[in-house]
Order: sequence, then C-alpha cells, then structure tokens
Amino acid sequence: DYVLTEQEFVNKNELKYPFEERGLQFGDGIYEVIRVYDGEYYLIDEHVERLYRSAEAVKLQIPLEKQEMYQRLSDLLTKNKVETNAKVYMQITRGSAPREHAFPIDTTANLYAYVQDLPRKTKLMKEGISAISYPDVRWEWCYIKSLNLLPNVIAKQEAEEKGSFEAILHKDGEVTECSSSNIYLVREGKVYTHPAKKNILHGCVRSRVHKFCEDEEIPFIEEAFRLEDLQYAEELFLTSSTAEVMPVTKVDDLVIGEGKPGPLTRNLQRTYEKDAG
Ligand code: PDD
Repeated sequence: DYVLTEQEFVNKNELKYPFEERGLQFGDGIYEVIRVYDGEYYLIDEHVERLYRSAEAVKLQIPLEKQEMYQRLSDLLTKNKVETNAKVYMQITRGSAPREHAFPIDTTANLYAYVQDLPRKTKLMKEGISAISYPDVRWEWCYIKSLNLLPNVIAKQEAEEKGSFEAILHKDGEVTECSSSNIYLVREGKVYTHPAKKNILHGCVRSRVHKFCEDEEIPFIEEAFRLEDLQYAEELFLTSSTAEVMPVTKVDDLVIGEGKPGPLTRNLQRTYEKDAG
C-alpha cells in the first residue's frame, strides 16, 4: 500500500511515523508537562493525579498502574542522568487503529515521555513580560489536558507575532486563562483568578500558589475578572510549570500598575523558589 506524503508516495511500512494513530488523526489523547529542578520532579503528585483524571474524563485506559507510572517516570530521569533543570513531556493517545471516530476495540494506548533541558526564565521573571488579549474559542472541557491544542497554538502564535510572551484568553471580555498558563490579577492586596471550573486547566502551579496565598494570609479570590478590570490592576501575573510565577507588565497597549513586577508577585516568586528548591 502506498501513502501520499508531502514529497512522494511512500510504502505504508516505511513511513517514519504511525499515520493511523489516534493522537495524530483526532488529537485523541492527553498529556502532561512536568518540571524538573536539579534532576528532581516538582509537583509530581499533582501532575500524575491530573493525568489520570484527564484519562478518566476521556475514557482512556492508561497502560500503567499509578505506582508503576511513578517508578517509570523516576527511571526516565535516572536513565538519562538528568541533574539539571528540565521538563518532561508525556503524552498518551488512544492508540493506533484504522481511522473511525468511535473508539477502536482491542487497541492499547500509545505512551511516550521524554526529557528536555529547560533553563529557568530568570531574566523574564525579573523584568516581567507583555501579553496580548485574545478570544477564547476553545471547547468547554479545558480542565482535560487534551492534545487538541490548535486554538492555544494559534493564540500563542498571535502573541509571538506581536512580540509578546503570552495570549490572555477571554470569553466576551471575561478572562479565563492564557494559551498555556493560568492568570491572576492583584488589586488592593487580593489575588483574583478564574475559578477552577471545567472551562480552564486546573494548573498544578495554580493550586500551589493558592496554598502559598493561604499560608501567607493573602486573600485568594476565585472570581473571574474582565479585560476592563485590567486598567485597575496593581499587578498581573501568570503561572505554569515552564513559566513559574511570571509578572505581566503590559497587556496590548495597557501598562499594568507601575509597569514593573509588583511586590506581591515578587513575594510569590520567592516562595515558589523556596518550595521548588
Ligand atoms: N501548559 N493553562 C493551560 C491552558 C496550560 O496549557 C497550562 C500548562 C497551564 C498551567 O498548568 P501547570 O501549572 O500545571 O503547568 C494552564 C503546559 C506547561 C504546556 O502545555 O506546555
């Protein structure tokens, strides 16, 4: 059997990737990005728990028991002699099968995970970043960390083209999260962020920052804010496993607060650093 590709016709068996693969054909799969500091996982329990929650939500059978998953993830770092700052990307798809929308019978999931070096974004975290606002056109189940990331990819690309680091997503003006991070507005010493409903990803760093705020008696208010509220923001920051606690100093043409990272954000950065280190 010959397959038409971007260059030539290739024998089905010689294709370098499994073309009848549900991750490739349907985005039918889930993933995680786990941070590694000095060769050790950060928030590993949160990531593993979310992975199994995502799997359950899309009726995907993960081919490893949880205990085994921990062991294999740990072996991945040992085998690769990871001693520095890195990230692990893991994805699990429903497997390889002839293309039919409904789940294939007797097909097992495909899983892979690999390590990639990831230095901390020290300069950006110190100076802050700029963001754009962008419509959130995603589906309603963004709490599932699914491989369907086309809206996120397009939003991030738009940000890049405008020289910005992130795209802040909003539904009719109500801010949900960013293309690959959660977002928080600071006003009168209080932190506001979208509630952990089904339409945003429940970030592992988000839940950690929630705890930091509780420990330090900083009010953490899970109430969505709007784009118009940005003009009253004293500080704005985003979080993710790769961006940590990142100050946002400009959104579109609007300068946030004094245009530099604010004291509450810097305080949370210090707490994060202690927690991760
Ligand atoms: N993204 N929201 C979205 C849409 C995300 O994709 C991510 C993470 C987050 C933050 O989640 P966490 O704190 O668990 O990293 C929020 C990862 C880093 C990515 O897709 O590369």
